[in-house]
Amino acid sequence: MTDTNPRQAEYPVDPLFLNRWSPRAFTGESVPEKDLLTILDAARWAPSAFNSQPWRFVYGVKGTPAFDKLLGLLNDFNQSWAKNAGAIVIVLSKTHLLPPGAAEEVPSYSHTLDAGAAWGSAALQATLLGYSAHGATGIHLDKVHETLDVPEGYRAELAFVVGKRGDKSILPEGLAAREVPSPRKPLAEIAFEGSFKG
Ligand SMILES: Cc1cc2nc3c(=O)[nH]c(=O)nc-3n(C[C@H](O)[C@H](O)[C@H](O)COP(=O)(O)O)c2cc1C
Repeated sequence: MTDTNPRQAEYPVDPLFLNRWSPRAFTGESVPEKDLLTILDAARWAPSAFNSQPWRFVYGVKGTPAFDKLLGLLNDFNQSWAKNAGAIVIVLSKTHLLPPGAAEEVPSYSHTLDAGAAWGSAALQATLLGYSAHGATGIHLDKVHETLDVPEGYRAELAFVVGKRGDKSILPEGLAAREVPSPRKPLAEIAFEGSFKG
């Protein structure tokens, strides 16, 4: 799908960042496992506290029982559009880490933040490969651990889907109207020199 992107950066940001957005219309084509693993490999190179790499991924590509199982973990709204995605990934993070030289693991201050950085990298790598990724926390959190055999000490963070963008006409009217790259707050509203008072 090619159409114009209304996003405009205030500074010379690489177009990759503007071209990553979260559609809900997907073609229903499966994502080859090699492409999905490329996306997860990119995520693996994210920074993390003490290089603890707390991110974990459980994935399923369209047409496999794993995909259907992961789709069932999304809430009804997210299932309604994610069923046409080519792959689904559940992102989890390990809540404790082993600091250098320590004998025992301690609670990690930033496991969720670190997993977020990894998911961000995955979304950008998906974009580079010509796919779209869409994150969702609208998932049945109470079912994730049992359904995915998650050991103790992991937090479910979000699901994301990957796929080829489809035509928005497959979506209900309300969602089709929102199928466009969203704007952002001005930089001056979120970045302050020296203190919040600027
Ligand atoms: C942590 C997180 C949770 C989200 N949860 C959902 C969700 O449950 N359902 C959904 O349709 N979109 C969800 N989104 C997508 C956001 O609405 C979307 O990223 C945001 O509006 C910015 O748009 P963009 O990604 O197209 O730039 C989620 C995104 C993130 C990062």
